[in-house]
Amino acid sequence: MSRVGIVGLGSYVPEDILTNKDFEKMVDTTDSWITARTGIKERRKAREGVPVSELCYQAARQALEDAGILPQEVELVIVASVTPDYAFPATACLVADRLGISKAAAFDLEAGCSGFIYAAVTASQFIAAGMYRTALVIGGETLSKITNWQDRGTCVLFGDGAGAAVLQPVEDGYGFLGMELGADGSGGDLLIQPAGGSSIPATTASVQANLHTIRMAGREVFKFAVRVIEESVQSLLSKCDLRLEDIDLFLFHQANQRIIEAAARRLELDQEKVFVNLERYGNTSAASIPLALDEAVQQKRIRDGDILMMVGFGAGLTWGAIACKWGGKGNKDDQNENL
Ligand code: UT7
Repeated sequence: MSRVGIVGLGSYVPEDILTNKDFEKMVDTTDSWITARTGIKERRKAREGVPVSELCYQAARQALEDAGILPQEVELVIVASVTPDYAFPATACLVADRLGISKAAAFDLEAGCSGFIYAAVTASQFIAAGMYRTALVIGGETLSKITNWQDRGTCVLFGDGAGAAVLQPVEDGYGFLGMELGADGSGGDLLIQPAGGSSIPATTASVQANLHTIRMAGREVFKFAVRVIEESVQSLLSKCDLRLEDIDLFLFHQANQRIIEAAARRLELDQEKVFVNLERYGNTSAASIPLALDEAVQQKRIRDGDILMMVGFGAGLTWGAIACKWGGKGNKDDQNENL
């Protein structure tokens, strides 16, 4: 399992910015409360009529270009999102079509804010098994479309965006070194969009009651998040036979600065080794890890040979983590026989 890796990255956020000051005019909140309790200063918002497939398409186009891959080389497209364009067809099919990918397998995957990690692990298994050589994995969200703008406990947290990665076989020793996925459905009601599915189909009454928007028990999810970051990091270290000092950069789901700091304290991590960009994007759910990864690579915080650890957590409740040695791109001769 050590020879599947990320060979291209892309990301996209909508232009429109909502600052903490903007929220002061909408709900009973302050810039200082939001900054102190979450670390978030601003977030992006997709305009009316702009669906998540548009954000995913823009991020994916860049990732293909970064990887030097033509659309027709892609054999698998997975979109992780809790805000797909439609219940069906899958957003992955729409994005593949816009990219000119006509015959690849394409499906959506829903694992809340762990979605990108779940999708990357899933795609890596297809490649490792020899079924496909090139996969496009996208985490994209337009959470603004399912936000309750009257609920100060949630509306200030979320943002829109998308991040994409191209996965392929990579040189020996590089790529995904270890992975981990988990779920505890008993916490499903702690973070939920109650209506719009088969449990509470959309009705005038459900919409009037705002049941089609995000509900979250913040404190419970907070405690869960800190615990699973610590457990996932420890578990991956032992699976991969690595020490904490071997990790060059940690990329945790960007939900709340205090969650990241609490987990880093428990693990006794050097803050310099923990990437944070949530102050500019808020919590973008499945998009947050690829957005952070792309930015870290562009800022040269990640270089060839570095070892990264990515940890996602969110609705489900779900969690997922990947340890990865960056680089090793260009294993073009490998035709899957030895994976
Ligand atoms: O991405 C999926 C995973 N999601 C997360 O990881 C989110 C996890 N949870 C959190 O990040 C935090 O729990 C929140 C940021 C959502 C809330 O922070 P908190 O420190 O846990 O606040 P709280 O919910 O315990 O609320 C404390 C107080 C309450 O007032 P009272 O009851 O003490 O009078 C809230 O009503 O803060 C109040 N409050 C606000 N005040 C001003 C809640 N939201 C706001 C707000 N502005 N926006």
